[in-house]
Amino acid sequence: MIILGIDTSCDDTSAAVVLDGQRMLSNVIHSQVKLHNAYGGVVPELASREHVRNIMPVVQESLLRANVWMRDLDGIAVTVGPGLVGALLVGLYYAKCLAYVHNIPMVAINHLEGHILSIFLEKEVPLFPFVALTVSGGHTSLYNVEGYGRYTQMGQTLDDAAGEAFDKVAKILGLGYPGGVAIEKTALDGRKDRINFPRPYLSNDSLDFSFSGLKTAVALYVKKWRESEVENYDVTLADVACSFQESVVDVLVNKVMRAREKKSVSAVMVAGGVACNNRLRAKMSEAASTEGVPVYFPRLEYCTDNAAMIAVAGYHRISNGEKADLSMDVRSKYPINDLSPIISC
Ligand code: KG4
Ligand code: ZN
Repeated sequence: MIILGIDTSCDDTSAAVVLDGQRMLSNVIHSQVKLHNAYGGVVPELASREHVRNIMPVVQESLLRANVWMRDLDGIAVTVGPGLVGALLVGLYYAKCLAYVHNIPMVAINHLEGHILSIFLEKEVPLFPFVALTVSGGHTSLYNVEGYGRYTQMGQTLDDAAGEAFDKVAKILGLGYPGGVAIEKTALDGRKDRINFPRPYLSNDSLDFSFSGLKTAVALYVKKWRESEVENYDVTLADVACSFQESVVDVLVNKVMRAREKKSVSAVMVAGGVACNNRLRAKMSEAASTEGVPVYFPRLEYCTDNAAMIAVAGYHRISNGEKADLSMDVRSKYPINDLSPIISC
């Protein structure tokens, strides 16, 4: 089964062609980073306009690279939420047009389901059930994944997402946008235990996250440090970046391991933009190996936003007999277990 995936949930215009829910034939991503860089974050209106400009060439390129025609497609999978409404609308309406004109079944995909299933594009895949952490600029959530389409949320962020914290701290440190990569690079020359930033574990049982307090702690520290009120005169920018990164990583690793223990599952996986972070990959692998469980990370191309993961989710939904109504709409907030209002079986 050949599925065309489309994702325009935030600031990447992406289209991909995937065979049988696992073999990527093409995965075209048009990034808008340069456009938004000047503003220090994604400007929703600009993102929508850029999607309008790029959606047609990106989809055409994905078909060309995969060497398939529209008539070869068995289905179209499109992200309908969560995300920026104006951005999502561009992908959805383009998908609707294609589905209608070429008479191809279409399915509506939850972006977070895409992130969870991104691991199935790899050769090494976890066995169900497993614990998944989706950690990006918009989300930080833990799920118990029992099968395709069977996800139970175990925890989520109560304020900032981890990627958002990386982006905001990078801004405070003057490292530019997007912040994750910049912090990781700067942290390479820093000392991880130079500054003891808070680790927001919340209560012992909680699998929820909270990163806004940590961000504020960094902001206050940096203010004092710049005003030379900090006693540790030898602290560097790299130390601040490294100590901050270590706090975030410690919290993420701790909660994933707690969730695994709670559900007694024998595998964990991490997806989303922050999963590109090498320190997170190393510490998560270390903790998982101590507990004797494998940890799975998709390759970087599948961690950040991409349409291949949406096509994987689409394959399983179409195989399951699902078909979306052409009257469906987008949803800025879209809990992963709430698929009913827009899907007809
Ligand atoms: O999944 P993604 O591409 O888009 C969203 O759905 O948000 O994730 C983007 C986020 C940004 O906040 C970015 O700073 C973060 O992922 N990120 C990283 C790294 N690469 C990207 N955070 C930490 N370390 C990285 N290497
Ligand atoms: Zn994402």
